[in-house]
Amino acid sequence: MTLADNIPSLRASLPPSLNCDVWPADARWAAHGDLVVGGVGLTELAASHGAPTYVIDEADVRLRCRQYLAAFGAGRVSYTAKALVSVGLARWIAEEGLGLYVGSAGELRVAQAAGFPMDRVTLYGSAKTPEDLDAAYAAGVGTIVVESLSEVTRLAATAPHGQRVLLRVLAGPEPAGASDHRFGPRIGTGEAETAVARIAGQPGLRLVGFDCSVGHQVSRFSVYEREVRRIVEFCAAVHARHGVDVSQLNLGGGHAVAYSGADLGFALDAFAGRIRAVLHLELDRHRLPEPALTVSPGRAVVSRAGLTLYRIMSVIRGQDGRRVVAVDGGMTDCPTAALCGGAHTAALIGRASRAGLEPATVVGRHNDVDDVVVPTLQLPADVHPGDLLAVAGTGAYHHSRASNYHLVGRPALLSVAGGQVRTLVRRESLTDLLSRDADHSGH
Ligand SMILES: Cc1ncc(COP(=O)(O)O)c(C=O)c1O
Repeated sequence: MTLADNIPSLRASLPPSLNCDVWPADARWAAHGDLVVGGVGLTELAASHGAPTYVIDEADVRLRCRQYLAAFGAGRVSYTAKALVSVGLARWIAEEGLGLYVGSAGELRVAQAAGFPMDRVTLYGSAKTPEDLDAAYAAGVGTIVVESLSEVTRLAATAPHGQRVLLRVLAGPEPAGASDHRFGPRIGTGEAETAVARIAGQPGLRLVGFDCSVGHQVSRFSVYEREVRRIVEFCAAVHARHGVDVSQLNLGGGHAVAYSGADLGFALDAFAGRIRAVLHLELDRHRLPEPALTVSPGRAVVSRAGLTLYRIMSVIRGQDGRRVVAVDGGMTDCPTAALCGGAHTAALIGRASRAGLEPATVVGRHNDVDDVVVPTLQLPADVHPGDLLAVAGTGAYHHSRASNYHLVGRPALLSVAGGQVRTLVRRESLTDLLSRDADHSGH
């Protein structure tokens, strides 16, 4: 039992504890309720840069990269850019020695601007446009993921000679209620084998292995183990019937992250060890040579490193007596429901409150019923307009999925490291927004 348990008023005056699975690794409370991340006080940051603002802790991103490399080995980890990307962030990823999965000509352009080594870049996507493919060929990306039979013909006709390809396969059966629209030839229907034979029949394409994607926020290792068993069995079949040996097996990403203390973290080292053991067992059983086991996580690399700062604009009592706190952002910058069912953790920052805690709902500025940032959290009873709120775990799929709904500009993305703040992506201005309207006069 702690002192705070014995003296409730003391508990109310303490800032909430910072769960290290949820908040950036170096986040700490400072005087007057300030939250310090990357050596930068976020109260001052919000005062000088405004809100809402995305903040990303460079050290935390680099730490996650190193943990992934330690678990899987050099050359065996790519970061999937769609979770969050900017030129600056891509540079960190390149410096840490990871590869990069890009899903569009736009993400590829960012990688090029960052000087990302193109042999470490993989282009994937179930509906690659001619622009995506032309950009990939021109840049000389290392690998392209083939995701349908028709794409084999297309690549054979257009790709540079000797292009490395991975074939995305669906090992199935799919989890109940999911993935009907996932792409990739299915192993079970024989489609994947047809694709292998077609790729092998194209002298210009070099099939290096298989790629798969099991879903998102997956915390059970068994989902991946099953995938490995089925794919190794498939490797044995294509080896026997087509003489094809693969040198890479990419298990995708999807590793779960914690959004609140109630979520389980993903034990990365245990996962890597378990998957390697299953892979070795299956390879031995089928007497196959060992391919490089690779992964391409997105969310798990950047989610915890990011948080969003909001300014509270109004506080009301709802009909049920619960406080409703409206902030200056919302569904445009926080796609909460789609990502984690609204499980984000948030804390009042910038002042030490001695008021007791009460439940509150944090909503956005868009007046829509689904414009909810945090459905339920405990906030000091004296929370008021002007206060600052930090929402944790917003590094992945927040900035990259942000919209201009309500003609609201997207927040800036700032990095913090060593006590310094750097703008990775500036705040979107009204001029930016209106510049696309052909009938706007420019005033
Ligand atoms: C299509 C697709 N989406 C997303 C990801 C990454 O998912 P997550 O951010 O859940 O790790 C991958 C990784 O390979 C992918 O192939």
